[in-house]
Amino acid sequence: MVLYRVFGCLMALLLMPAAAMAITIETLRCEHRESPIGIDTPRPRFTWQMRSDIRGDAQTAYQILVASRGELLDADRGDVWDSGKVASSQSVLVEYDGEALRSSGQYFWKVRVWDRRGRASAWSEPAQFTMGLLRQEDWHARWIYAKPDNEALQSHPAIMQWPAIVWAKHPPAYMRRTFRREQPVARAVLHAAARGLYELRLNGERIGDAQLAPEWTSYHKRVQYQSYDVTEQVRQGQNVLAVILAEGWYAGDVPPYAKNATWGEHPQLLLQLELVGADASVQVIASDDTWRWSINGPIRMSAIYWGELYDARMKLDGWDQPGFDDGDWRKVAVEETLGDAVICAQPNEPIRAMDEVKPVSVVERKPGVHIVDFGRNLVGWVRLSGRWPRDTEIRIDYAEALTLDGDLDLRTLRDAAPQHTTYIARGSEAETHESHFTYHGFRYVRISGLPTPPDESTLTAIAVHGSSPVVGQIETSDADVNRLAQIVQWGFEGNLRSVVLDCSQRYERLGWLGDGSIVSQSMIFNMDMAAFYTKWMRDITDDQNEAGGFPDFSPIHPHSPPRYWFSPGWGNGALLIAWNQYVNYGDRRFLEVHYPAFRRYVDAIPEVYGLRIIHKARGNGWGDWLAIRRASYAVFATAQLTYSTTLAARMARVLGHEDDAKRYEAQAQRMREAFNRELVCEDGVVGSGTQSDYALALQFDMLPENRRAQAISHLLRQVEAAKNHVTTGIHTSHHLLAVLTEAGHKDVAYRVLLNAEAPGWMYMVASDATTMWESWNAFSQETGARAGGGNSLNHPALGAVNEWLWRSMVGLNPDPNAPGYEHVVIRPRPGGGLTFARGTYRSIRGPIACGWERESDVLVVHVSLPVGSRATVWVPAEEVARVQESGVPATQAAGVQFVGMESGSAVFAVESGTYQFVVDAG
Ligand code: BGC
Repeated sequence: MVLYRVFGCLMALLLMPAAAMAITIETLRCEHRESPIGIDTPRPRFTWQMRSDIRGDAQTAYQILVASRGELLDADRGDVWDSGKVASSQSVLVEYDGEALRSSGQYFWKVRVWDRRGRASAWSEPAQFTMGLLRQEDWHARWIYAKPDNEALQSHPAIMQWPAIVWAKHPPAYMRRTFRREQPVARAVLHAAARGLYELRLNGERIGDAQLAPEWTSYHKRVQYQSYDVTEQVRQGQNVLAVILAEGWYAGDVPPYAKNATWGEHPQLLLQLELVGADASVQVIASDDTWRWSINGPIRMSAIYWGELYDARMKLDGWDQPGFDDGDWRKVAVEETLGDAVICAQPNEPIRAMDEVKPVSVVERKPGVHIVDFGRNLVGWVRLSGRWPRDTEIRIDYAEALTLDGDLDLRTLRDAAPQHTTYIARGSEAETHESHFTYHGFRYVRISGLPTPPDESTLTAIAVHGSSPVVGQIETSDADVNRLAQIVQWGFEGNLRSVVLDCSQRYERLGWLGDGSIVSQSMIFNMDMAAFYTKWMRDITDDQNEAGGFPDFSPIHPHSPPRYWFSPGWGNGALLIAWNQYVNYGDRRFLEVHYPAFRRYVDAIPEVYGLRIIHKARGNGWGDWLAIRRASYAVFATAQLTYSTTLAARMARVLGHEDDAKRYEAQAQRMREAFNRELVCEDGVVGSGTQSDYALALQFDMLPENRRAQAISHLLRQVEAAKNHVTTGIHTSHHLLAVLTEAGHKDVAYRVLLNAEAPGWMYMVASDATTMWESWNAFSQETGARAGGGNSLNHPALGAVNEWLWRSMVGLNPDPNAPGYEHVVIRPRPGGGLTFARGTYRSIRGPIACGWERESDVLVVHVSLPVGSRATVWVPAEEVARVQESGVPATQAAGVQFVGMESGSAVFAVESGTYQFVVDAG
């Protein structure tokens, strides 16, 4: 047991010179982000993480300073807010309580804490936050846009020459304005929004690294802006602000649920640059009628679903710098009002270029045509680099799969095929191109038109997606399980683009709430989703319809048919996402803000569906989507809405709405009773008796105790009959593993998980999947991607299995009663022939590590908790006498309290710190 010995020594060290050590503070966050620029909540919240080498160390008080200048903070002065010493253990989302914060103001903050013995820590490193525009009146800018006449559009060379991309409605507009600045600038802040997508430049320099800004929202309700500190880029004298404006989701195509509907006719820009002098005077440069535009730049077309056409011969040299002659550019049109939609600061981490992947093979298909394999499915585009004669036309087509004879297989792109980049070389210089306002889901590209074959340096795949920080990693002794965890993560991150997308390749790519809610806990274990859900939940509640229904996907175009609201299994996913946000991040304000919408939804259930069984969907009635044997629809829908009603009751209780809580509990109880009366037979058969039926009934707590045992026996028989394969769909597969484990059948759960034949997760691993497939049989190595529906090779939904890997295999469970990992239940379930499994998770309070390893008769369970967390740890053991902790009997170990024996485990309560339990069963 090498690890055991290393851990033992480490523990001895940690326990020794405790007196000399104190709490150190790390990772400061404001509104869930590190030093954010552009916060428009008047009372932002602060979070810090703490470390200590002393077991059970705890914060007993804190002091926060907020200053208007870094120097003041350095001198320990909080001229804007000094909280004073506050006796409190709270370190998560502490609300600002100082003087009113100014629009565009920049603030510096730090914190110190006191420990159990009353010793003060050192001050934390300083952090910052910058406010956005707090009131609509703070905008001095107007929406501006290019208005090409039909004639100009009809004769636009891209439309004339490349009919394959006529779907793109608007050639990107190049827009610019010059301005003078006479005095030096002490600070410059720029706020930029678009109805459409923008790329921003100041004096020739690209501002920020956000892609596809300002991202996708329900534009009739809300448009986001981003804020940038551009102090370094502003010059004394002449300056140029330059923007490329594209159609994006606002004015371009959106999938066909709202035929031919776009949010608006013309992409528009709203921009405000504030130049602050040393004397605090402010000069505002805004989007107004002084701007000029042209559509004769090199990006001829760029559209979300279709790709980009770039003619480098049309490069506008110097267009984004002073001295460029824009005499023949046209004047912009100006909207008279800012409109009704809320213009808000973007709360989530932006979409960014996150990774670069080199080709693993380049194969010549025929002369001049090459197939390039990047080794894994990803979402973004390729960077093309090289030197080519002028007029060389290079085409890059994207696909997720190859046909059996080695060409691109476009079938998984469905009606978004073909999607491609076309690049026309300028000649004479080294050229590089990356796309601007589009993206593709792909593993392979086909490149044609190159005068010489591509080499290593010609193509690089760029993964472009939401930049929510990765916080969780799992590692086990089983290479296939590790691979599964990896491909789940690649699928999750690739589909993070303003919303959780169902997929990223075909003509769909929507924020389906079924899919997004199913994977929400799984995603939270891997990525810090707090800021992301803050954004998406606004879209979802913005899209609630008059009857109280949430949409099936959000953002949704308001002209979509009514059946896209109120579908069980989709719209109600909003409540699950919100609950997970609360449980994992302790974000009570999030619940408060959205609770009225949830209340409207749950109140509408009896009106829309009655109080009993839901036999038929009011919206779309898909049920357990893509199951091999589906649950009866009544079981599916009734269990879904009962569960959501229960979640609403829990939220009401957290927020102190006792009456609502009672009402929703009673409502759920009536649905449960009807469920048992009408859908469960005397012998415990639920609905149509499929794995899905049982997984739903058990996981959503629909059955009384006596029926649970019956249901589990039926479920076990179903699993056996299916030879340890899943027959479940996207809503129930992860629940299947959970209910088996919870009922004491983890061995069966492991067998289903590790089954390498179809259908099952490990079949995907064995079939060289690099992201989760949409359905169990989306692909086979013999036949390639399947024709027809359900064949996407990058669909996060079945990645919900990740929740089981974390909760059961590794054993990490957040506690809804002490949210934000203030208390966790660590209950690992060793099994499946694995010899170790461990997870490290950077929670909102700091890193938590937990896991186990087994060698012959010895089982080691290790746990590490940051200051501010405590845990209940379940250690599998026949009797407590067999459990040691850091070399002493666990019952005598410092910081460890034996709670009792339960279900074959010794259960302990521990405080923050690092622990190692060793069970010798020999
Ligand atoms: C999506 C799914 C989604 C479903 C609704 C599909 O086209 O890709 O993942 O939940 O539609 O049934």
